[in-house]
This record gives sequence, structure tokens and C-alpha cells, in this order.
Amino acid sequence: MALGDIDGAGLDRTVADIIAKGGQAFGLAGDLTEEAVANRLIDDALERYGHIDILVNNLGGVGKRAKIWEMKVEDWDFVMRLNLRSTFLCTRAAVPHMIKRRSGRIVCLSSGAREGTPWTAYYLGGSAYSTTKAGVHGFIRDVSLELAEHCINVNAVAPGPIETESGGPALRKLNETVEFSPNNMTPLRRLGQPNEVANAVLFLASDEASYITGVTLHVTGGR
Ligand SMILES: NC(=O)c1ccc[n+]([C@@H]2O[C@H](COP(=O)([O-])OP(=O)(O)OC[C@H]3O[C@@H](n4cnc5c(N)ncnc54)[C@H](O)[C@@H]3O)[C@@H](O)[C@H]2O)c1
Repeated sequence: MALGDIDGAGLDRTVADIIAKGGQAFGLAGDLTEEAVANRLIDDALERYGHIDILVNNLGGVGKRAKIWEMKVEDWDFVMRLNLRSTFLCTRAAVPHMIKRRSGRIVCLSSGAREGTPWTAYYLGGSAYSTTKAGVHGFIRDVSLELAEHCINVNAVAPGPIETESGGPALRKLNETVEFSPNNMTPLRRLGQPNEVANAVLFLASDEASYITGVTLHVTGGR
């Protein structure tokens, strides 16, 4: 498994974890919104493993939250670049190799926020993030059509409020403090767990999902 992340220390921990559990992995530390870094990640993966079966475009973030009338242009641009550019760059770099083998799976991370989320929209603002995650849905719709004749499946997973290391504390705080909280607004009435998202990504990357393409699978505890 080839992993790319801007956080070198976090990357090292994840690579060590995978190897300790019996897997194979290496990491490339760098900014994946840069064309050269995205290309290098794919080249290094090919050099190491000889082929690319699955690409997961996972990186993403909310950037600085602001209501639309207070949003700074540079903060808007940062989120557009972060959430869309790396997905485009890594996909573009990997696809020629998948086309040659007439085989491949691409899974991109969208978000339930593509339809707006009450716990951010009413209190903090989140339109830049929601825009990019709706963009990921548009991306997989079109690219799945472009790649269908090459036997490459392209899908997305749209997580709801997930209790990750990075996002969990803020979501738990919203549950304690606001009316339109994740727990109140989510039909299953709880935060999701990281493995519940990972399982959906694994399914879309597996042979069991061979006749599924162009779909955004919501893992949001209901809609
Ligand atoms: N956690 C949630 O509740 C939630 C909900 C919906 C969607 N998502 C989406 O799921 C994906 C993963 O979310 P997460 O909560 O695990 O996020 P996270 O912040 O924990 O992980 C994102 C990773 O991307 C890396 N990264 C950031 N900028 C980078 C860059 N320029 N180049 C390379 N790496 C970079 C970070 O270092 C981090 O390791 C994201 O696309 C996110 O938008 C998350």
C-alpha cells in the first residue's frame, strides 16, 4: 500500500501500524495538492508494486469555517484546492496504468455535507467544504462514465459526522451545546465510527462491488 500525507510523523505511525499488522506499506510525505507530489506517489507505487489496483482519494479538510458573508477569498480557495485538486491529480496520474490493465477501482471521499449539514451551517458556516464535497460527487459521476469502457469503477463514500481523532472532539462538543446537533439531526442518533466508513470504502474497492460505478454511498446514519 502506498500512502501520501503532508503530515510526515502521522504517516510514519500509520505505515508502522500497517507493517506491524502484517501488511506492506510505504509513505510519501508531501503536499498532494502539488502536481509533482501526486505524480511521484503514483510513480513510487508503480515502481514498488508494479501495478495499481485501487486508488482511494481520502485527504480533505474543512479549512477555516465562516458564514458566507464573512468568508475570505483565500480561505475559500484553500478548501477548493485541498479537497478537489488532489483528487483530480492522483486520479489523473493513476488512470493510464489502470487503463492499460483494463482493471481498477477508484474511491473518493465526499461527505454528507454535500447536501448541507445543520450543525455547521446554522452555527459555523461550511459552504466551501460542502461545495467541494458536492464537487467530488460530480467528479465521480463524470469520471465513472469516462472510464466505464476501460473496466474501471469509480465511486464515492459520503461520511456523516464521524468520531475520528481529528474531528471527534468538535462533534462531541456540538452534541453537548447546540440544538441542531449531529446526534439530534442524524436518524441513527449517534456519531459514526471510522471503521464504519472504512468498511464502505473496502466494499466499493472489492470484487463484491464489481457492478457498481458512479455511485456516492452515504455512510451518514440516515438522511
Ligand atoms: N471525519 C468526518 O466526520 C468526515 C465526514 C465527512 C467526510 N469526511 C471526509 O473523509 C476524509 C478523511 O477525513 P478525516 O476526518 O479522516 O480527516 P483527517 O483530517 O483526520 O485526515 C485527513 C488527512 O489528510 C492529510 N492532509 C491534509 N492536507 C494535505 C495535503 N495538502 N496533502 C497531503 N495530505 C494532506 C492530513 O494530514 C490528514 O492525515 C476527508 O476527505 C474528509 O473530508 C470526514
